[in-house]
Formats: sequence, C-alpha cells, structure tokens
Amino acid sequence: MSIHDNEGVKQLLIERVKTSETPRDVLRAPELRKLYSTIGSIPAEERANFGREVNDLKQALEEAITEREAQLDSASVEQLDVTAPWGENASLPSLLPAEHGTHHPLIQELNQVVDIFTRMGFEAVESRQIDDDFHMFEALNFPKDHPARDGYDTFRTEEGYVPPAHTSTMQHRILLDGKARLEAGGDIAAISYGRVFRNEDVDATHEHTFYQVEGVYVSEQANLGQMLGTLRSFFETYYDQELRIKTQPAYFPFVEPGLEFAIEKPAAIGGGPGQWLEMLGCGMIHPNVLEAAGIDSKKYRGFAWGGGVERLVMLKYGIEDLRHFESGKLAFLRKFNT
Ligand code: PHE
Repeated sequence: MSIHDNEGVKQLLIERVKTSETPRDVLRAPELRKLYSTIGSIPAEERANFGREVNDLKQALEEAITEREAQLDSASVEQLDVTAPWGENASLPSLLPAEHGTHHPLIQELNQVVDIFTRMGFEAVESRQIDDDFHMFEALNFPKDHPARDGYDTFRTEEGYVPPAHTSTMQHRILLDGKARLEAGGDIAAISYGRVFRNEDVDATHEHTFYQVEGVYVSEQANLGQMLGTLRSFFETYYDQELRIKTQPAYFPFVEPGLEFAIEKPAAIGGGPGQWLEMLGCGMIHPNVLEAAGIDSKKYRGFAWGGGVERLVMLKYGIEDLRHFESGKLAFLRKFNT
C-alpha cells in the first residue's frame, strides 16, 4: 500500500469531520477500520512505515474533530448584540429565578373570589386606584356636604383626586357600561375588585390600604331574595361548607333598603351558635343611582354589595392580625406558598 492511498483516505475523512454534526463518529468510519485490518497483510519491511502513517492520520483526525467540536459548541450559544438598544436581548434567561416568587396570599385569595363570581356569571373588572369626587360620592347619591361622606375617611391628592375609599366608585361605570345590554333585554351582572384607601389608624383590624370586592346586578326582576341567595352561595363556596346567614338594617346612601350581611362563624374554625360575623354591606340600588346612569328606575331594579377581602381571608385561615398581610414577613408569606 502506498503513502498516497493513506493520504487520500485522510483528506476524505477530514472533509467529513468538517461538515459532521457528530464529528467523533468519523473515528468509526469503515475506511479507517479497513486501514487497521490491512496492517497484518503488509509486508514486514513496510509495516512500520505504514503504521506511522496510520497514526499520523489518526492524530490529524483527532485535531480536526476537536476543532469541529469547538465550532459546534460556540454556534449553540446565542450571540449577544451588545450594540442593540436596551431590552433587545431581554429574551435571554432572566437574572431572577422565577421559582423564588409567588403571588401574595391576598392576590391568591382574591383570584379565588373572582373565580367564584365569574362562574356564577358575573363579569369582573378591576377598580381604579385614583378616582374623583363624582364617582366616590355624587354618582352614589351622597349630596354635597352630606354627613355620610365623613364616614369614609377619604384621602385626597393635592389636585383634588380621590384614592377610592370603597369599590362602590365602580358602580356608576358598571351601570353605564351595561345600560345598552339591559335595554336590549339582558341584565347587568358585574363585580369589581381592587385596592381601597382610608385615612385610618392602623391596628389589628384596620389598615389604610386594603382590598374590596363589589357586586352589581340589575334586571327587571332583581330582588333581595336573589341577592341573599347569591351571597350565601358565594360564602358557602369560598368556605366550602354550609353556613347560616342573617342581615340587619344599615345605612348607605346608595342603597335602599341597606343591609349588613353576616354569617355565623363555623364550628370548624372555633365558632359557635349565635357568633355572627359581619361580612359586607349590601342592599337594593337606590333609584337615584340608577337614574344617574340613565337607567329607568321604574322599569329596572338592582342590588349591590361590597366588602373587604382581608376579613374573608383572615376568617378562612384564622389570621388574628390584619397587619401580617403588609408586613413583608417571609415566615407569614411562605405559609401560603402553594
Ligand atoms: N361601599 C360600602 C362600604 O365600603 C359597602 C356597600 C357596597 C354597601 C354596596 C352597599 C352596597 O362601606
């Protein structure tokens, strides 16, 4: 066998390495195996020379393989465009491992609350965190200088805007939004949820910032019985048990009659008969509120309710102090880490 044959095989195999995705496989090529098996049949005087050539060939192949592997390796790393505008490379793995974060317990629970009402057929809209005097009071039948305005401990911005003190600020918008559907023979069924703010001293049961959920339902036949059925059904689903409920009269300018809705504290969480817990305010929407949104209060009636989310969650988990929620304490937050 002449040196030229070996050189030919070498060129062929090196070319193959250069284009292969798995270059190391070339070491098992049949051409190479054939060369090895030939060694035995080479005349003794040529054998040393032949063996050296085969070794050279193998070494050249190894070098080509290492080079090709490095090339493949660097091709698999995405190239960063360092001249790109900020954010261009943002699809690369994030620096903050996502598995270290979860939803805040209040948001987890709020999602459940929204889910329950959505399954009952209510649309859900988030409430605003900055609103105005009109939605906070006027549209809700609080005349100017009405003393009930004071009951809401409302903050104001220097410009006169209102960080809403209840989610009832969304009622007027929900009514306006649903008016056409109502007049076309449908009904209005919506909830609104979000943060509300009150100028309160903070203690175990009061926060300046908390969450509320509001519900609004309007149709030709809406009545208190439907409202109580809706609320009972919500609470029984949320707490996953049957509950006793009761109401007592309460005053809110935007409902007539106005009620406070209470549930009996379930035995499962240490309650007993006669231990009533007020959960929210509710009532039949005042005709003035319907009319403010252009809805004919002789033809249509509605009910509305609104209440705090923290209270719901505290009762569910036996949390004794409202301040835990905003404390940022990891030991507390991790208890809800599902
Ligand atoms: N917005 C009232 C509150 O926060 C609760 C309420 C809502 C009462 C809807 C009646 C109807 O005190």
